[in-house]
Amino acid sequence: VIELRSFVESDVPALLRAFSDPDIVLWNPGPTDAAEAWDWANQRNDHSAGTHASFAIGDPHDGALLGSISVFHIDADQGDVEMGYWVGPDARRRGVATAAVNAALDHVFGPLGLRRGYLFHAVENIASCGVARRAGLRHEGTLRESYRYPDGRWHDEHLHAILASERA
Ligand SMILES: CC(C)(COP(=O)(O)OP(=O)(O)OC[C@H]1O[C@@H](n2cnc3c(N)ncnc32)[C@H](O)[C@@H]1OP(=O)(O)O)[C@@H](O)C(=O)NCCC(=O)NCCS
Repeated sequence: VIELRSFVESDVPALLRAFSDPDIVLWNPGPTDAAEAWDWANQRNDHSAGTHASFAIGDPHDGALLGSISVFHIDADQGDVEMGYWVGPDARRRGVATAAVNAALDHVFGPLGLRRGYLFHAVENIASCGVARRAGLRHEGTLRESYRYPDGRWHDEHLHAILASERA
């Protein structure tokens, strides 16, 4: 369904379209002009610090940019990592985000040797909750007013996580 790859400069128009989508603006805001978008992409392409391993989600058939998966807050001592994602409006509801989370987990539990992957989403964001559950990240609890999103309000969030030992 998807491939994880680096961002390329020709992704910039698709990045700008994605970052004007109301759901992405609310839950996962990003750059708003081409120069900022290319900086944003290059930060995600550079894994050299060892603290994140983020990827573009590409269509393996034509290379189009479908979305983004951020793998960040890598803590090698604790063996854990946080994840976040968005998918462009035209590519939703066909398993793209779920496949990307699964591919990212293959990477973090495989080559990176980590043992726990987790993510947070606002309780109202039922699409993100569905992705987490479908990818096997259990709901571990609800955090009260834990994050202020771009609407200026602090939202309750679900914490979801999966252990390497839980994956077949
Ligand atoms: C959340 C998001 C990444 C989902 O991407 P996606 O590729 O459409 O997700 P998937 O197709 O893998 O969906 C997996 C499951 O999630 C649930 N789901 C996804 N979108 C949903 C929606 N709009 N409403 C209700 N449930 C939804 C479903 O259970 C779905 O499985 P199903 O289609 O077999 O029923 C996408 O909607 C998005 O980018 N939203 C804006 C940014 C965002 O919220 N990012 C996450 C911040 S924590």
